[in-house]
Amino acid sequence: MTNLYKLPLLLERMDEQFKVNPYDVRGTVDYDRLIAQFGVEKISSDLLKRIKKHTKNLHQMLRRRIFFAHRDLSWILDEYEKGNKFFLYTGRAPSGQMHIGHALPMLFTQWLQKVFDVDLWVQFPDEEKFLFKQELSYESTQRYLQDNIIDVIALGFNPKKTHILIDTQHAGLMYKEACKVAKKLTFSMVKSSFGFNEQTNVGSLFYTSMQAVPAFLPSVISKKEIPCLIPHAIDQDPHFRLTRDILPKLGHYKPASIQCSFLPPLQGTEGKMSSSTEETAILLIDTPELVKKKINKYAFSGGKDTLEEHRKLGGIPDIDVSFQYLKYLFEPDDKKLAKIEADYRSGKLLSGELKAYTIGKINAFLKEHQARREKAREDVEKFVYKE
Ligand code: TRP
Repeated sequence: MTNLYKLPLLLERMDEQFKVNPYDVRGTVDYDRLIAQFGVEKISSDLLKRIKKHTKNLHQMLRRRIFFAHRDLSWILDEYEKGNKFFLYTGRAPSGQMHIGHALPMLFTQWLQKVFDVDLWVQFPDEEKFLFKQELSYESTQRYLQDNIIDVIALGFNPKKTHILIDTQHAGLMYKEACKVAKKLTFSMVKSSFGFNEQTNVGSLFYTSMQAVPAFLPSVISKKEIPCLIPHAIDQDPHFRLTRDILPKLGHYKPASIQCSFLPPLQGTEGKMSSSTEETAILLIDTPELVKKKINKYAFSGGKDTLEEHRKLGGIPDIDVSFQYLKYLFEPDDKKLAKIEADYRSGKLLSGELKAYTIGKINAFLKEHQARREKAREDVEKFVYKE
């Protein structure tokens, strides 16, 4: 009882320990607190069961709660069960080479497309990072755009059901819809969602209007309202919270969404990966030697300093970056993952051994990805949306 009055103060302090918005992720994210802050819903075991009825198996990212929250996912399933299929919408803003953290929500989206056999719209807002990053020139975003499209295609989407939208190239189609959104979006709404101020450039103020468009464009094109499900990393939620406020005012459904947590950067479980700093990220174009170097040199280890200590006390998988990479992406087999976890915790498995195993897994994935990448170069035209 006596400590109860201290609670608000305590919560406030915890708030300062991390920050999550589309343009800034810092600190050790407390995902339960984020659920409360953002007002998303945790994915319950009942909801998982309901998904499983349709998909037979649950994707590892659902089983392991890497995709952990949602908005209106039950509604998407209601409609689906009535025979009203949804479409998927996700995106990638070119600002550099793609890394394995970017692949995470994309791979999950690819699975959703496959198991539900639905259309997918992928937005490449090639103006976004140009507007938000002081040092980035428009010309370099255009170079990354081409490269990023190839990476996304190589992740395995269905060419018949996947439509790429590029903001500056599909402007004729998108701009007028964006204006309809922009007219309902006030400075005060974007200011509080993204921490904007008087010095923020006006392009950034407008940007959410563009990110909202693919959530209803397929409905405009087909002249029929189609439910939309957006898989994305949790930092994008502020854009879609605003989108959900506005779309009903324009006569459209609110988009549903499903959120994942961040793949930890190499140095540890704080913040998120960034392609602009070599020591934090493994890129989809990295060579096997570079992956080996990055994991061995930079990947934070939850192991003990000496062999004797490690054998005696064991390691901590929860903070071990190599283990987390296996859990998030590279070890789909639950039994194998559980054994690795137990052996590491008991000290039977050494940090160097865990790293070697992870390097092998990452390199096997990248080898395949890079081969598909070469083929994807020829497929770009099949994916870019044509009016
Ligand atoms: N803003 C996202 C980024 O920074 C790109 C994006 C556009 C996106 N539309 C999306 C991401 C829909 C997820 C879902 O990369």
